[in-house]
Amino acid sequence: MFEHLNAQAQDKIMALMVEYREDPRDTKVDLGVGVYKDPTGNTPVMRAVKAAEQRLIDTETTKSYTALAGDPAFVNALSGLVLGDAVEADRLAGAAQPGGTGAIHQALELAKMANPDVTIWVSQPTWPNHLSIIKHLKLPMVEYSYFDNDTRAVDFGAMMSDLDGVKQGDVVILHGCCHNPTGANLNLEQWREVTELLGKKGALPLIDIAYQGFGDGLEADAAGVRHVASTLDEALIAASCSKNFGVYRERTGLLMAKTPDEKLKTVTQQNLTHLNRQNFSFPPDHGARVVQMILDDPTLRADWESELEDVRTTMLALRKQLAEALQARTGSDRFGFIAEHRGMFSRLGATPEQVNAMKEKHGIYMVGDSRMNIAGLNKDTVDILADAIVDAGV
Ligand code: LMR
Repeated sequence: MFEHLNAQAQDKIMALMVEYREDPRDTKVDLGVGVYKDPTGNTPVMRAVKAAEQRLIDTETTKSYTALAGDPAFVNALSGLVLGDAVEADRLAGAAQPGGTGAIHQALELAKMANPDVTIWVSQPTWPNHLSIIKHLKLPMVEYSYFDNDTRAVDFGAMMSDLDGVKQGDVVILHGCCHNPTGANLNLEQWREVTELLGKKGALPLIDIAYQGFGDGLEADAAGVRHVASTLDEALIAASCSKNFGVYRERTGLLMAKTPDEKLKTVTQQNLTHLNRQNFSFPPDHGARVVQMILDDPTLRADWESELEDVRTTMLALRKQLAEALQARTGSDRFGFIAEHRGMFSRLGATPEQVNAMKEKHGIYMVGDSRMNIAGLNKDTVDILADAIVDAGV
């Protein structure tokens, strides 16, 4: 029977991760997969996570099942972090998920159950796994313009003009902050305009927020999603703790649904719970419990926020250093966008050939569309990258 299976294309980001590991050069620089690295190249366990895990080991008395939608304390704590008080409790359904990917997958399944004729709109470009999951679920998809390849900023006019084509019941995927892969983000005024348009069209926003705290800070990064969730009757929000809590392998995420009234909240919650049961029964608990312990304990929370802020400012300093190094080498401001972008990624705007040349000649690994993970740099490798970018003729 297995002879009927088709070969599957490898995920490009994951394939690059393997290729990097196998490269024997000790001068190699990994700007591929979206994982935070400290200046020594290590992805640390955050202090508050270690402390919470220790406390958990000391106090946990059972590994019995939690609830199908995850521990309600986790759902409350994480929805509070993302949404603040933008949505009243009796309007918000939520279920814990295995990471941000799990949340996106489940959100799309839910959308398909609610509207079998749904079309999914994605930014051009977007995280490749969005495309892959949409294809896997056999959902029709349309791309909307997002990134201006010349200015390396959001082409908001083109975005709005494309989104004018959304139909009632369509789903529009938006990146809550720190757009992956470009690093170019909507400002709050633009969020307001998008929200108004989607409201007018009766389309459902699905906001993927996987980098809260990596851009302009925990609150500022949530401003767009909070505006959408407080303004529209319906919205889906997929949140990930992989990056901002550094719990990548623990698979910790949450799918939230803002509903128009209490009755629809109940039905939506039943559907989220049902989907968990069909797909994996109970979501993973360890990462979720650790996150909840941190968020609900003022001391752990303060320590986590301060470490996250250090991560954010380190990335900002690297952005500035790289933009300056390129300015010095080229005598032009055309790389100034690197300091303007926010989050882990920037799309450099190099051709696939240039990306390949930087890998072959300089051991610099970035995703083929020239997405760079800024957190993969340190003070010393910034110059190596700047030399390679100039050498490749970007
Ligand atoms: C990325 O975009 O590199 C991360 O979100 C990791 C992943 O799962 O692709």
